[in-house]
Amino acid sequence: MKFFVDTADIDAIAELNDTGMVDGVTTNPSLILKSGRDILEVTREICALIDGPVSAEVVATEYEDMVQEGRKLAKIADNIAIKVPLTWAGLKTCKVLTDAGHMVNVTLCFSANQALLAAKAGATFISPFVGRLDDVNLDGMELINDIRTIYDNYAFDTEILVASVRSVNHVTESALIGADVVTAPPAVLKKLADHPLTDKGLAAFMADWAKTGQNIL
Ligand code: E4P
Repeated sequence: MKFFVDTADIDAIAELNDTGMVDGVTTNPSLILKSGRDILEVTREICALIDGPVSAEVVATEYEDMVQEGRKLAKIADNIAIKVPLTWAGLKTCKVLTDAGHMVNVTLCFSANQALLAAKAGATFISPFVGRLDDVNLDGMELINDIRTIYDNYAFDTEILVASVRSVNHVTESALIGADVVTAPPAVLKKLADHPLTDKGLAAFMADWAKTGQNIL
């Protein structure tokens, strides 16, 4: 399973990238706002740092404007995935841009039927938002399971990119279901390595090691 970092914070991306675990990056208008950076400038920097897909989102809502914005974003770098919302205008834009050879990430997906439409429109990635479904007492992971079944039933190539990830359990469950990608905030990705028994075991080893009086270096 691929890990994308869900942020436009270039320092956080660089720090995680040093672990070799980062396969891509996702951004959205809210994350650009949070970064305080110019979208074109920060996206260019992220694309230079990361080899994998970097999602940059259009903000137009009409089809023609969306296509124009998508084409402009795609010019930033070869590894741009143009992010479009799951609306009819977004789906039409997805078709045109993927036909032209661009990667497209269809975002704001909250139902299996929406995911089916995105796959039929040729989306490179579908982004179902699990956390926001959980927020309204629906089951985000059940949606991932449904999309996996549907895409496998018809051998769609569209990759399931689990978004709106809030916890390490979302990551585990996505991996068990067989989602292709998880995009998570840096804090969630960092927590994946945490376990209290690892901390406890390491402390015990260090205490015993100190008592040996030895050094390896
Ligand atoms: C990423 O592609 C999404 O925009 C992001 O994961 C949304 O996360 P949120 O629901 O925590 O804002």
